[in-house]
Amino acid sequence: MNANDHTDGRVLWFTGLSGSGKTTTAKHLNQLLEDRGLRVELLDGDELRETICKGLGFSREDRFENIRRIAYIAGLLSRHGVIVLVSAITPYREMREYVRKQIPAFAEVYVQCPLEECERRDVKGLYAKARRQEIAAFTGISDPYEEPLRPDLSIDTAQHSVEDNCRRIMSWLNRRAAAT
Ligand code: PPS
Ligand code: MG
Repeated sequence: MNANDHTDGRVLWFTGLSGSGKTTTAKHLNQLLEDRGLRVELLDGDELRETICKGLGFSREDRFENIRRIAYIAGLLSRHGVIVLVSAITPYREMREYVRKQIPAFAEVYVQCPLEECERRDVKGLYAKARRQEIAAFTGISDPYEEPLRPDLSIDTAQHSVEDNCRRIMSWLNRRAAAT
């Protein structure tokens, strides 16, 4: 893949449970794409909640608003030829279908990882807090995560390394680019 390939403007939307590996995978992929001279931007839910999504919580309404804002930025960037990687839980199918309608270049990437494994990793200690009921509406514990039924691509972070998963995504992007 090089800067002339038709990967321009694609929006890869990583959805999955907290701790499933969305951020890790998107960051690694971001670097690989940058190394190839492509223009790429990473929009991470956790980070945006400190800036343009500050003040939003985790009710269904607030999560929708969060995703609506992220989709807006992703749409703008993609229209200017930037490859956008979004890592945000995006727990409801209706949300993801909304984004699909808004952004023609949208591709849903399901970051699969069993809840038990996410909880075992518990990188931020949030699952433990959620189990102690110190966090309300925690995805997978006390709030829903609706699994994608027909994602454009899925990766499994319990079975495969970040490098292997990124290789798969890169070859998927290359196949897509060749088909357009
Ligand atoms: S959403 O549902 O798409 O609007 O969520 P997102 O913007 O991706 O934010 C998820 C990150 O917020 C932290 N966090 C929580 N996640 C889920 N449920 C609750 N209640 C919650 N409270 C805080 C957590 O760090 C998530 O980051 P990831 O990277 O998914 O672990
Ligand atoms: Mg994350």
